[in-house]
Amino acid sequence: MNILDRLKGIDRVIDIPIVDVSAMRVIRLLDDPESNFDQICTQLSPGIMAKFLEMANNAYYGRKVNNIEYAVRVLGYDRMKQILVVSLLMEHFSKSDMPHDFNYQRFQGHANLCACISRVFAEIFEMDGKEDLITISMIHDIGKLIIAVYCKDEFSLIEDLKKRGIPEIKAEKDVLGMDHAEVGALLLKKFGISDEITEPIRVHHSYDSNNTEDKDYFLKMVLKQSVVISDMFYKEWALYCEEIKEVFDEITIKGKEIRDEMVRDHMRDKGYREIFPGLLRNITVYIVERLSKYLRKSFELT
Ligand SMILES: [Fe+2]
Ligand SMILES: [Fe+2]
Repeated sequence: MNILDRLKGIDRVIDIPIVDVSAMRVIRLLDDPESNFDQICTQLSPGIMAKFLEMANNAYYGRKVNNIEYAVRVLGYDRMKQILVVSLLMEHFSKSDMPHDFNYQRFQGHANLCACISRVFAEIFEMDGKEDLITISMIHDIGKLIIAVYCKDEFSLIEDLKKRGIPEIKAEKDVLGMDHAEVGALLLKKFGISDEITEPIRVHHSYDSNNTEDKDYFLKMVLKQSVVISDMFYKEWALYCEEIKEVFDEITIKGKEIRDEMVRDHMRDKGYREIFPGLLRNITVYIVERLSKYLRKSFELT
């Protein structure tokens, strides 16, 4: 059975009893073109309301969103659906039966670190769509969960190849015909998640698709770079972002200085999109140095 057939079987993800029934009801309503904001508000459980209020406050800079009627309008249909689908999927996978050599905690730690790094980049570059970038970073490797849970035989074959020194992406492509990035994007598409989210996930390991004309060029570039950096600190997966908030704040300030300097020196003869890869590289070098220094220091202390 190929991966596409397996993915068909993942429909049961949304039918199994552990998932939040009210979230599912709201998703159905969001999919219904006849529905409206008022109907949606009447169906929200307290847990979902809290989630929506939190996200609306993140999305709506400078204004406090206190009531749910306003929050659902601030978020809009697409983002509400994205929040619900992601939380349903993550809940599902956190309760799934994983192969013994799949470390779920490490997976989560990596996702968190990636989200922290992309948040720092988003602040340095003053990017629009920061919330989307952070969500994408959190779930960029969801394809790995699908392979581990739904394709257990293939997962073992891939692990064997990796132990023999075959790079992960090549091993996945050899066994499944596609890598975990493509698998994840396929699943999210199946749940009706928009291309703005699925496309950056699909290409997060492909380095030949950086088209400066793409409308999500900056988001894709930043995601790839955040993935590269968090992969470099793979062993330090328990690097909790909350604990090193000060380091990330320092990185943000210094990153903005690097940005301003490069913009001043190079923007006379080139556009921002052209200098962006160099800018990203220079800031990456600084982030890696700063995180390494932090880690060395904390190891000395322990
Ligand atoms: Fe990945
Ligand atoms: Fe990753």
